[in-house]
Amino acid sequence: MIIVIDFGSQFNQLIARRVREHNVYCQVEPADISLDRIRALNPKGIILSGGPSSIYEDNSPAIDKALFDLGVPVLGICYGMHYMVHALGGVIQRARKREYGFARLQIKTGCPLFTDMEPAFQCWMSHGDSAIELPKGFEVTASTENTAIAAVAHHQKRFYGLQFHPEVEHSVNGSLMIKHFLFDICHCEKNWTMNSFSQGAISQIKDAVGDQKVIMGLSGGVDSSVAATLIHKAIGKNLYCIFVDNGLLRHNEKTQLEKRLVANLDMNIKFVDAAETFLAALKGVTDPETKRKIIGSLFIQVFDAEAKKIPGAGFLGQGTLYPDIIESRSAFGGPTSIIKSHHNVGGLPEKMKLKLIEPLQLLFKDEVRKLGATLGLPEDLIWRQPFPGPGLAIRIMGDVTPNRLDILRQTDTILLEEIRKAGLYRKLWQSFAVLLPVKSVGVMGDKRTFANCVAIRAVTSNDAMTADWAKLPHALLGTISNRIINEVDDINRVVYDITSKPPGTIEWE
Ligand code: XMP
Repeated sequence: MIIVIDFGSQFNQLIARRVREHNVYCQVEPADISLDRIRALNPKGIILSGGPSSIYEDNSPAIDKALFDLGVPVLGICYGMHYMVHALGGVIQRARKREYGFARLQIKTGCPLFTDMEPAFQCWMSHGDSAIELPKGFEVTASTENTAIAAVAHHQKRFYGLQFHPEVEHSVNGSLMIKHFLFDICHCEKNWTMNSFSQGAISQIKDAVGDQKVIMGLSGGVDSSVAATLIHKAIGKNLYCIFVDNGLLRHNEKTQLEKRLVANLDMNIKFVDAAETFLAALKGVTDPETKRKIIGSLFIQVFDAEAKKIPGAGFLGQGTLYPDIIESRSAFGGPTSIIKSHHNVGGLPEKMKLKLIEPLQLLFKDEVRKLGATLGLPEDLIWRQPFPGPGLAIRIMGDVTPNRLDILRQTDTILLEEIRKAGLYRKLWQSFAVLLPVKSVGVMGDKRTFANCVAIRAVTSNDAMTADWAKLPHALLGTISNRIINEVDDINRVVYDITSKPPGTIEWE
């Protein structure tokens, strides 16, 4: 395995993903990780990530310098390179000119990171500081116009530094450099595949759960479905899934899930119809956060009441992913501990006293999709766009009524049909309709209308942290608008949302 030390870069998860794309397991660890823990993890190589700090700032992130005595290859990226150079006796200085964006990298021959590359190509920079003096044994292996020391190496110790970001797609040959680091320098094996992962995970779940029961909430989304499938493969009928219909789902959602999971996998699923309870509690509520709180706490009540009907349950299954773990920095025990008993995340009450089992907690979203395919889940489930827990309630601005839900469901169905027909469903992170609290004047036939307005939202994104509005073809927008206005009563106007995130959010509430 490879360890990425997190110095605070917005790209540290990207570094881990790039490593895993080469079928090598990689884990992101905080900078205050102890040396004993690093030794216990026994990495083949260590990558020091970039970060927003300057090396000479107070409280800039630092790691135990004895790391450099472990005999393990190290690759420092941006701040990670500064840290290594500084720690080993070199000098870093605030550059006269900040370098941000594209730069042309000129490489020198002889560095194994750059094997089989042309002498000059584009790289992507984002730094204020630069190395100006190198520690003993280091040499410069590449430069750019503004940065004389753009890459460094200490060949004997197998320490390498890159001032630019190889993990970012704009850096030509970046993935190849990471590949050379993994295989030519660290001599890693290619053994991280979803097949090997699922075999390991299934046997770990079997060992940990034994003949106890696991309860799990299904949402119909990719993560909970893949997690449940994995647990189901391990313990079969001792997995009890609960699907709460909160009345805020899209058209046919419950039926589709029933068809996909029950029919495909013969899973034990209890469908609970709690729509009336949720809608009654939401009556008259217009504030987004209040809606969320009501829905969240009702979900817990309904789920808890159902869970109590399953005697002898010892575990609660959840589809938590690796980015949540990295971000929450919760207690985390590495690849061999996918089962742990800690606080309940996702708001399920402490009093359930169930141990948590999170079989996807080492995976990124794209890996979960690959795992789903390995486990034989249907394509349309694996590629389903994310759908928020509070459902359509946060896509109806203002009061959530059965009538407004009905309008939105019809609109959303048309939109998704057209997006799928255009072959765009998978390319978009999310595409959905939002029912606005405004009426506007229109004319249909010879009649004046005064009816509702819907907004169409379609975004591209990798992780929902940032998103861009999708440049949908005008003809497609036209078809969507025509169909909605013709087929859905009470809508006479369709608008397209052209806000990216930031400054907007993906959802409207
Ligand atoms: P925003 O609107 O914050 O959304 O840009 C980012 C991603 O999170 C989803 N989202 C939610 N998911 N409960 C959820 O389970 C929520 O309350 C919630 N709010 C937003 C949203 O659909 C997008 O994918």
